Amino acid sequence: MSDAPQITENAVDAAVEAALAAIAAAGDSAALKVVRAAHSAEGSPLANFNALIRDLPGDQKAAAGKLVGGARAQVNAAFAAQESVILAAEESAKLEAEALDVTAVPTRWRAGARHPLSLLMEQMSDLFISMGWEIGEGPELEHEWFNFDALNFDEDHPARAMQDTFYVEPVERHLVMRTHTSPVQIRSLLARPLPVYVAAVGRVYRTDELDATHTPVFHQIEGIAIDKGLTMANLRGTLEHMAHALFGAGAQIRLRPNYFPFTEPSAEMDVWVENAKGGARWIEWGGCGMVNPNVLRSAGIDPDEYQGFAFGMGIDRTLMFRNGLTDMHDIVEGDVRFSRQFGMVV
Ligand code: DAH
Repeated sequence: MSDAPQITENAVDAAVEAALAAIAAAGDSAALKVVRAAHSAEGSPLANFNALIRDLPGDQKAAAGKLVGGARAQVNAAFAAQESVILAAEESAKLEAEALDVTAVPTRWRAGARHPLSLLMEQMSDLFISMGWEIGEGPELEHEWFNFDALNFDEDHPARAMQDTFYVEPVERHLVMRTHTSPVQIRSLLARPLPVYVAAVGRVYRTDELDATHTPVFHQIEGIAIDKGLTMANLRGTLEHMAHALFGAGAQIRLRPNYFPFTEPSAEMDVWVENAKGGARWIEWGGCGMVNPNVLRSAGIDPDEYQGFAFGMGIDRTLMFRNGLTDMHDIVEGDVRFSRQFGMVV
């Protein structure tokens, strides 16, 4: 006789009792799974009894089969019953946990705030609208002809070089991420009857690394006025008006000769702004000039009949020196606390 377990009524009853007690004690489906492994699965006492039946003498097989089969059926029924109780309890706990009180009074959650750049762009647009100008638009994915050729850039102008411009594949399509808002000049001239007074604000792209003063995606405002008899005095007056509106009555404008392919003569404009500490200084603000006759010809306009001026400046830069910001990261990172400092809310 080996000391392997014997199929006796006592042994089977003990196994059933142990199984039923464990099943009754299992409070959730994870616990029930553990109990099933111990009391019903392969290697459990009842499964072992079942395996032993095969080796019994033929005349004992039927009785043993009945005993063990009945025991397993009883245990399986207990599992099924306990499982349905547990699943029902877990289901209703879940429903309760996920319940929403649709009558509850909502607490207003301020998830974000408008960006101060958006406000500044709106102020700039409003300023030109108040002077009777129109607002122009153009795509950010722009054709090279609008971004460069029509603006009188030479084939080999350095701004076309790969390190400044995001060229978009396939290159045969000649698409670029616009490097400035100046292509809106051409689009405005082509789309509107003369005279044209258009301002445009928008996003522009250059292959610059993000650092304290640069960002590859930034914003510009562009202006173009084409009419009969416009002179640099009109340009200067417009810029002065804009400077006063944005920086206060004490702001002044200064023009210094410069070169841009699309204006002739061209100037760099500086603005005299006071800082928070009571000091003041000249700050480089943007470019401007009288629209080059070649640009007018690109848009099918006779330069002997119509003339005008254009200007463009960076808006992110404007925000920085107007508000004494020193790090471009603050503007691009999107931390809502930055916007709130400007009193911005959604
Ligand atoms: N597009 C120029 C730039 O991004 C800025 C500019 C200069 C715009 C002179 C103008 C202009 O309209 O007349 O650097």
